[in-house]
Amino acid sequence: MGLRISKSQHSQRVTIFSVIFILMTLLILLGSNNINDTIYAPFHMAANHAIKATDLKKWSTKDGYVPVYGNKTMNLRCHDCALVTSSSHVLGSRAGEEIDHTECVIRMNDAPTLGFESDVGNRTTLRVVAHSSVFRVLRKPNDLLHRTDANAAFIFWGPPNKIGKEAKGTLFRIIERVSMTYSNLSCFGITANKMRRFDSLFHRETGRDRQQSHSWLSTGWFTMVIAIEICDNIKVYGMVPPNHCIKPRTKKIPYHYYKPRGPDECVTYIQNESSRRGNHHRFITEKQVFARWAKLYNISFTHPEW
Ligand SMILES: *[C@@H]1O[C@H](CO)[C@@H](O)[C@H](O)[C@H]1NC(C)=O
Ligand SMILES: *[C@@H]1O[C@H](CO)[C@@H](O)[C@H](O)[C@H]1NC(C)=O
Ligand SMILES: *[C@@H]1O[C@H](CO)[C@@H](O)[C@H](O)[C@H]1NC(C)=O
Ligand SMILES: *[C@@H]1O[C@H](CO)[C@@H](O)[C@H](O)[C@H]1NC(C)=O
Ligand SMILES: *[C@@H]1O[C@H](CO)[C@@H](O)[C@H](O)[C@H]1NC(C)=O
Repeated sequence: MGLRISKSQHSQRVTIFSVIFILMTLLILLGSNNINDTIYAPFHMAANHAIKATDLKKWSTKDGYVPVYGNKTMNLRCHDCALVTSSSHVLGSRAGEEIDHTECVIRMNDAPTLGFESDVGNRTTLRVVAHSSVFRVLRKPNDLLHRTDANAAFIFWGPPNKIGKEAKGTLFRIIERVSMTYSNLSCFGITANKMRRFDSLFHRETGRDRQQSHSWLSTGWFTMVIAIEICDNIKVYGMVPPNHCIKPRTKKIPYHYYKPRGPDECVTYIQNESSRRGNHHRFITEKQVFARWAKLYNISFTHPEW
């Protein structure tokens, strides 16, 4: 009797263990199949929307950029442009000479050239600066004005209540002061109307309303669109393709080349892409759009090449 009970208990246990084992295996298998989905959430869901292509060459309007001081107009036009990203993929590229030999060199925020010349070059034609980076940019004006071209321009982007002329906020006054001091540099702000156009462009290209999807556009987004407006051909240095962070990585790559101890690039991209609470950048989604634009506007990518 006792033996029979323990036998049936044993087979019951075996059954339970096998069921658990099968469930675990299934979960692990499903989990690994789902990795791509979770990385690209929440934007993955909008992947099959109908993309309404916008011709960015016709998209630009004359009144998109206003001079911070004086009466200059934003009329920079280039045949060939080098768009130097702030990613540490540029480190070790030795692309500095090639970048410096390009007609126009475009940089972002407070990305320095001093100390990194051999990889990122030392000329600057256009710098696109986020409202949140203004203080960092202006803390070291000599670094950033080092070897700026004679026709160099800085474009500041941000919410109109922060950088708008009408708002007369602290940030605007600081930019205005700099613009008065360095009269050989042309400083422009993006108008409120143009800011709305950047939002609606994001909506058309991704199927997602920027505000409703709690997204922040990145300086990379603004810089890429402005580069397409002003350049016939664009070579991008240091930008990874959209699927880059899916692959398993062994080495950490700092998000910014000038912050070696800063956060890892893929961790920053994936966390931003999948965050729902609060507003976040959609770096991976933006790169999916850039990949499409690359074919339309002769954009090529190097370090890494794709
Ligand atoms: C811009 O202002 C300068 C003086 O600051 C003036 O000489 C010039 O004519 C103005 N240009 C235009 C296009 O208004
Ligand atoms: C930086 O600028 C100088 C000219 O002042 C140039 O001769 C040099 O080749 C540049 N360096 C690099 C690494 O691009
Ligand atoms: C612009 O002015 C600053 C300071 O006045 C100077 O360091 C820089 O070399 C000038 N740049 C050009 C292109 O003239
Ligand atoms: C595209 O751009 C590259 C440089 O970025 C240039 O070498 C090439 O000639 C361009 N192609 C066309 C069709 O203009
Ligand atoms: C999103 O990216 C920014 C850099 O633009 C970074 O400072 C922030 O920590 C990132 N957020 C998350 C949740 O990783």
